[in-house]
Amino acid sequence: AGGLVIAIDGPSGSGKSTVARRVASALHLRYLDTGAMYRAVTWWMLENGVDLRDRGRVASLVGEVPLTLGLDPAAPEIRVGEVDVARAIRESRISAAVSAVATNLDVRADLVARQQAVAAEGGVVVEGRDITTVVAPDAPVRVLLTASEEARLARRAHELHGSAAAAAVDATRDEVVRRDADDSTVARFLEAADGVDVVDSSHLSLDETVGAVLELVEKRT
Ligand code: C5P
Repeated sequence: AGGLVIAIDGPSGSGKSTVARRVASALHLRYLDTGAMYRAVTWWMLENGVDLRDRGRVASLVGEVPLTLGLDPAAPEIRVGEVDVARAIRESRISAAVSAVATNLDVRADLVARQQAVAAEGGVVVEGRDITTVVAPDAPVRVLLTASEEARLARRAHELHGSAAAAAVDATRDEVVRRDADDSTVARFLEAADGVDVVDSSHLSLDETVGAVLELVEKRT
């Protein structure tokens, strides 16, 4: 599967990062987490004291953000300049701010171009919100990974708070529901575009979900 490009989109908490990594490992492909790029740009803007509401300023600076990514699915890396930001970009202050950056269309144009350069080399699973529609609409395998809101909230609550009790789920609502509502104003990931296969993981284990995606790869290639 040397040159294969697999595009995976889905909302927050759909499990797409884990699934995409597992699929990439199974097929010996590279793995590109585009959400990490939006998060890293957000981290850099905050680090440099940029007001995210100043869209013109954010747009004028995005081209300068020195992002480097490591695409090994077993150990993905992301650096801004010399700084390893893998951990910092998962903080809730970044999750809370990232949509303001991602809904800036100049930011999207810049990051989509960087993502398309990786996709053009082939041999990669690319995961995000607009991969099946904008970044790699011609990829032979395009998957929308969905799950019920209940399942997505429970998963994120587990990730962030180690529990799916009511309080943990409530604390996760902004992270999931509000962010998806904001993000879906600029990317269409709540329903499948033409020709995109849907995998609903609400009632599937991780292994079963990975299996379903691998079956689609078999079918489409
Ligand atoms: O997937 P993850 O939750 O890490 O994505 C972080 C944010 O990056 C999303 O909430 C969204 O604002 C943005 N994003 C995007 N387009 C993508 C991937 C992520 O706008 N392809």
